[in-house]
Amino acid sequence: MSAPVRHIAIVVALLILVGLVLMLLPGNIDSGSGPIATTELSDEEQIARGEYLALAGNCVSCHTVAGGETMAGGLPFQTPFGTIYSTNITPDPETGIGAWSEWDFLNSLRHGVRPDGEHLYPAFPYTAYTKVSNEDIAAIFAYLKSLPPVKQESPQNELDFPYNQRALMGFWKAMFFEPGEFKPNTERSAAWNRGAYLVEALGHCSACHSPRNSLGAERIELAMSGGEYLDRVHGGDYRPWSAPDLTSSSLGLGLWTQDDVEQYLKTSRNEFLESFGPMNEVIINSTSKLSDEDIAAMADYLKSLPAIERAANEAPSAQIMGRGRTVYNLHCGTCHLPTGDGDPEMAPRLNQGSLVVQSPNPASMINVILYSPELPDHGLLPRWREPMEEYQYLLDDEEVAAAATFIRNSWGNSAGVVTPEQVARQR
Ligand code: HEC
Ligand code: HEC
Ligand code: HEC
Repeated sequence: MSAPVRHIAIVVALLILVGLVLMLLPGNIDSGSGPIATTELSDEEQIARGEYLALAGNCVSCHTVAGGETMAGGLPFQTPFGTIYSTNITPDPETGIGAWSEWDFLNSLRHGVRPDGEHLYPAFPYTAYTKVSNEDIAAIFAYLKSLPPVKQESPQNELDFPYNQRALMGFWKAMFFEPGEFKPNTERSAAWNRGAYLVEALGHCSACHSPRNSLGAERIELAMSGGEYLDRVHGGDYRPWSAPDLTSSSLGLGLWTQDDVEQYLKTSRNEFLESFGPMNEVIINSTSKLSDEDIAAMADYLKSLPAIERAANEAPSAQIMGRGRTVYNLHCGTCHLPTGDGDPEMAPRLNQGSLVVQSPNPASMINVILYSPELPDHGLLPRWREPMEEYQYLLDDEEVAAAATFIRNSWGNSAGVVTPEQVARQR
């Protein structure tokens, strides 16, 4: 197609899209005269319950900027379509949710719709929160209303056309979004269902751990088998991160026991490693604050996810492996050991334990090597004697690719080749 023809085709496609949107508007909402749920709890008990549920939903990580007022919003989210800012969810009547009814609040979480009928962007993970029960939404609302109101406008979103048209989200939702409360599986235990609810609804683990299509919707048939999104690396810049496969596959959560999962979510550490990167906030602000029963339930559910296996990886050439071994022994082996076994005081093992090392998408592993792993700020005694350094200035793309390939295909690992182009993409 020539350029003008292509432009006309795009305009026509957009007009059709807008037509469809107009047909689909207004957004689906619920309304009623009474409360959204009844409760026997006193106001204090309801607020305490809501606070716990807000921890499970990790609202604070996205709605509070570093050093800013709790839940006052303004945090930027880099998406392939532009930058979206989180909003003020304190009870200020002008800039927050102080003037909202319980039904308004329910509609934002269940349907991704604002009180004025505008659609919200799924950077706010209402695709998961839609499953939260009315009782729990009421408790979270009571908690948010108990916070000190903060008067603060969020910055304007910086989105390209047509993504800056909120009305288009009506079309997106009609195609990809199914609103509705979590439905328990009656063939499973109460604990399993509690775990499923926490992981799928409040915990929104799939927002990062599921692959998405080109329009940013989660691919349900590959749910929890690994996703990619933009986040900060150590040093502050944004780079793609891969969130590994949490199904029971041999390169995913199949590598860990239920106890390994519990330890990790509870303390950020387990036998193999300590968290780093984007999982730090998930653990420090959310899962580490949940009860032991809830963490056990989440691990129980996660370990039950059927494996989504991939085709076996092609083995790398002897030449690349040789090159990688040299780089590894020179720069990495002192801490991770030539056997990949790691050392209890120096560094984690790299053989058969880290989901990040085995992940089909190597983005996170490359981030760790280029920018070093940023460890969580949890107040525990340091686990390692010294931090791993950044290799972005020490090693070139080919050396990083060779070392990563060597690690991913030694000592029982079989996670495929990393190319210099994949390293260049992370720079
Ligand atoms: C992954 C980040 C993220 C998490 C976690 C998150 N939010 Fe948000 N939230 C956002 C973003 C971004 C927006 C703005 C969306 C938009 O402008 O369309 C938003 C918007 C909202 C809105 C709409 C406000 C308005 O003025 O229209 C409400 C209400 C809200 N969030 C409540 C919550 C609650 C309650 C939780 C925890 C259960 C939560 N959010 C967790 C990112 C997040
Ligand atoms: C904001 C995105 C995001 C959310 C939400 C998220 N994860 Fe992750 N997760 C990641 C990324 C990125 C990695 C790999 C890098 C790292 O560890 O930070 C990861 C790694 C992991 C690992 C493997 C750790 C390792 O080093 O091998 C586990 C297990 C895990 N996540 C579980 C969960 C669970 C359970 C939830 C829901 C409660 C969750 N994640 C929510 C982004 C996320
Ligand atoms: C000074 C000791 C030291 C050196 C040298 C070192 N590392 Fe590390 N490495 C660590 C520590 C400490 C961590 C943090 C692990 C954690 O999060 O618990 C780590 C984490 C990692 C991880 C993440 C593993 C996981 O748990 O998911 C990878 C991959 C890695 N290093 C690769 C390398 C490579 C490749 C080199 C050489 C280019 C290297 N390291 C050099 C100490 C070291």
